[in-house]
Amino acid sequence: MSRVVVVGSGGREHALAWALAKSTQVIVTPGSDGMRAQGIFCTSASPLDLDADLFVIGPETPLVAGLADTLRAQGKLVFGPGADGAQLEGSKAYMKDLLALANVPTADYGSFDNQDDAFAMLARMKAPYVIKTNGLAAGKGVLVTDSLEEAREDVKEKLSGRSFGDAGSSVVIEECLIGHECSLLVLCDGTRVVPLIPAQDFKRVADGDHGPNTGGMGALAPLQSMTEAMVADVMERIVEPTLRELRHRGIDYRGVLYAGVMLTVDGPKLLEYNVRFGDPETQVIVALISDNLFSVLSATADGRLFDPPRFFDGAAVTVILAAEGYPGATSAGDPISGLGDDGQLAKYDDAVTIFHAGTKKTDDGFVTAGGRVLNVTAVGATLSEARERAYGAANKISFRGCVMRTDIASRHG
Ligand code: AMP
Ligand code: GLY
Repeated sequence: MSRVVVVGSGGREHALAWALAKSTQVIVTPGSDGMRAQGIFCTSASPLDLDADLFVIGPETPLVAGLADTLRAQGKLVFGPGADGAQLEGSKAYMKDLLALANVPTADYGSFDNQDDAFAMLARMKAPYVIKTNGLAAGKGVLVTDSLEEAREDVKEKLSGRSFGDAGSSVVIEECLIGHECSLLVLCDGTRVVPLIPAQDFKRVADGDHGPNTGGMGALAPLQSMTEAMVADVMERIVEPTLRELRHRGIDYRGVLYAGVMLTVDGPKLLEYNVRFGDPETQVIVALISDNLFSVLSATADGRLFDPPRFFDGAAVTVILAAEGYPGATSAGDPISGLGDDGQLAKYDDAVTIFHAGTKKTDDGFVTAGGRVLNVTAVGATLSEARERAYGAANKISFRGCVMRTDIASRHG
């Protein structure tokens, strides 16, 4: 049997490991108690000391730091771009410059490390204002606001290093795009590129898309309002020119490229690229994949991605349960009720899988470990069936201060 190493410890890596384990021996480093409870082998060993037929790197930080390059230099087959390609996510200014060269539609923007210049751009703009950290900020570095005062304050906080440390030492200020947002994740084998099913993430913390941005409070797939023609349009206008420009720069991009796209009245525009699987989009995408995920990811890593992966008909929904205080500082150590010893629903339901994002297992059962805690994922013949199952399961789980949206997948798709 083939063997795969997955690098990471969150809900996304739990979902990848769960799907890969259907056909392959899986090792996760460092993994989590929730994965272990489900019988997935986890180790604290460095990926550099492990041997496998394929390495799948989950989070952006090791990709930006060049882990894929180091593993490839050891002769390993790796799913995930090198540090050169990972700059698309590691630096918004790099991404924006590349988009401009490749003629990819995106929001107008300016990049600043000087407060006076940033304030001058804000003064020229109309509300709403969008302010981002240039560097990595786990999805939380973006402020969208109607208040010029709040925008100026945010620029000041970011540039001073107070709110996001070095990631905010320069800021990107953008035109606000209006429309429906969609996550189109594509696989790229260095030459060929194929889309996965379109998904939607729910970024704001509270119902009705209110409150601050988070890493994502829930997800659905497929996003039915995004037709095949719209996917083809995003591929043609956004993804393909980007990959052509990467190749032109000598960058051999192998892995997943996550295009966060705003579907505006003037056509699709790129909001952001991530160089890794989305979290929680991956949870709904892998729940629906009918092909062998190991074969798909190895073919991508190996430059042999001849066929697009196949998916089951039907839909998937993920609802996130986060710790009190999320997306700010969160509490930890609160007992979680409703889970069995295997970290799954105490009353098992085979349409539902619980991916663990921030839990610890103690002698008395699972407790919260801060941030996003659990990703309750359900599949169904329709979106509403998947949604009902996901919420039915989520409502059987509880812990003190749990933060959960009640409107995931209610008006969308
Ligand atoms: P990012 O980290 O760039 O993906 O931004 C996080 C979220 O902020 C996006 O998923 C959007 O919901 C929102 N956002 C970012 N940029 C813009 C923009 N230019 N216009 C409107 N919303 C935006
Ligand atoms: N769900 C948003 C992200 O993965 O960045």
